[in-house]
Amino acid sequence: MRMRVFETATLAGMRLANRIIRSATHEGLGDREDFAARLAERYIRLAQGGAGAIITGYAGVSRDGRAWPNMLMIDDDDYISAYRRVTEAVKPYGAPLVLQLAHAGGRAEPAVTGEEAKAPSRRRYKGAATTARELTEGEIERIIAAFAQGISRAWRSGFDGAQLHAAHGYLLAQFLSPALNRRRDRWGGSAENRFRIVREIVDRARQTVGDFPLLAKLSAYDYDDGGMRLEEAVNLAGLCREASLNAIEVSCGNDNWFCVVRSRQVPVAAILELAPALRGASWLKKKVAALLLPRLFPTYGEQENYNVAAAAAIKAAVDIPVLVVGGIRRLDAIEGIIAAGQADYVSLCRPFVIEPDIVARLRDGRQEGSRCINCNYCLIGVGANPLQCYYGRLPGQR
Ligand SMILES: Cc1cc2nc3c(=O)[nH]c(=O)nc-3n(C[C@H](O)[C@H](O)[C@H](O)COP(=O)(O)O)c2cc1C
Ligand code: SF4
Repeated sequence: MRMRVFETATLAGMRLANRIIRSATHEGLGDREDFAARLAERYIRLAQGGAGAIITGYAGVSRDGRAWPNMLMIDDDDYISAYRRVTEAVKPYGAPLVLQLAHAGGRAEPAVTGEEAKAPSRRRYKGAATTARELTEGEIERIIAAFAQGISRAWRSGFDGAQLHAAHGYLLAQFLSPALNRRRDRWGGSAENRFRIVREIVDRARQTVGDFPLLAKLSAYDYDDGGMRLEEAVNLAGLCREASLNAIEVSCGNDNWFCVVRSRQVPVAAILELAPALRGASWLKKKVAALLLPRLFPTYGEQENYNVAAAAAIKAAVDIPVLVVGGIRRLDAIEGIIAAGQADYVSLCRPFVIEPDIVARLRDGRQEGSRCINCNYCLIGVGANPLQCYYGRLPGQR
């Protein structure tokens, strides 16, 4: 079965050298003048290291949806020439490049956007400094247009596809979740209504980009009261298929977002040292934060392969390709997932942070699995610094 993992495959018309994909990973470069050159450098390393396809870190479709100052943006035609340089640089290396598009909604950071966060319904999101207010109809229409324009810009920039970030408690996931979307108008209530924003984005984008590959990342379940459950996600996956989305990447987590990147220990030291909100904070503020952090970052069940059962249920229900991400670390697990037909592709994030050539290492038999220890320091650090692996040590501790 090793052979199948490392055989070429066609995903939504894109030709992949194998079935292991780099899942979207915020690179923390969006605030740099030379972001295009630095992105290209990273993607070339990933492609040379064997990644079957590369999904970029999330790119914001509008300014009010930014979560970090260093988030990529795709809200203006002016970005097209820079992204074109990225896609042209990566093309010779063969790995398809997919741009992920996002809006943070209630998780947007007012200190970055300069305005209040907005969400399907009024809510104080976990860890947010302020309460998000409810979006108006007009604002929803503007967001749909912004996503459709973002997809069109991805297409014009030479990306091989685009992915809607409809997972992890960002805006589209906020609409899909029955817990986060309490609206009583045509954007809330039934599954069809909660899905309407995604359908309208895809319909609008298709008018310009035709059959350009469009993927969606979904949270199949979360730990929110009254939130997303697998049965509901299977139904939403069917709506994705019906709306002409070409593939679904299965993840988990919404307001309880730490289950996305679960680890056994709360990365307290990294948060106190590296998180932008706590940099330079007083001793007292850090002490209080250290006490509160375990509540924000609890430990969730399984540590490996934790979305595979959900992916398998979705795969059984839809006839479009399914990718699965989340704690996948070992080649034998990857082979098992593909052999059993639980998913068509696996995607990895942190294993590519520590070893951008992880696929070549697995393929050539140099390693049986990733060396990542799930410390999550990379995630905490990337809010203010370019993405890097810390391997559980703070910069001064090396
Ligand atoms: C540093 C870092 C940045 C991430 N950025 C994104 C992102 O931009 N978009 C996204 O959908 N998920 C993002 N994620 C989540 C990953 O794509 C993935 O779903 C999660 O890390 C679980 O996969 P893993 O166990 O292979 O790391 C990020 C995770 C980390 C650790
Ligand atoms: S910083 Fe930690 S979680 Fe991130 S890639 Fe390195 S070892 Fe893995």
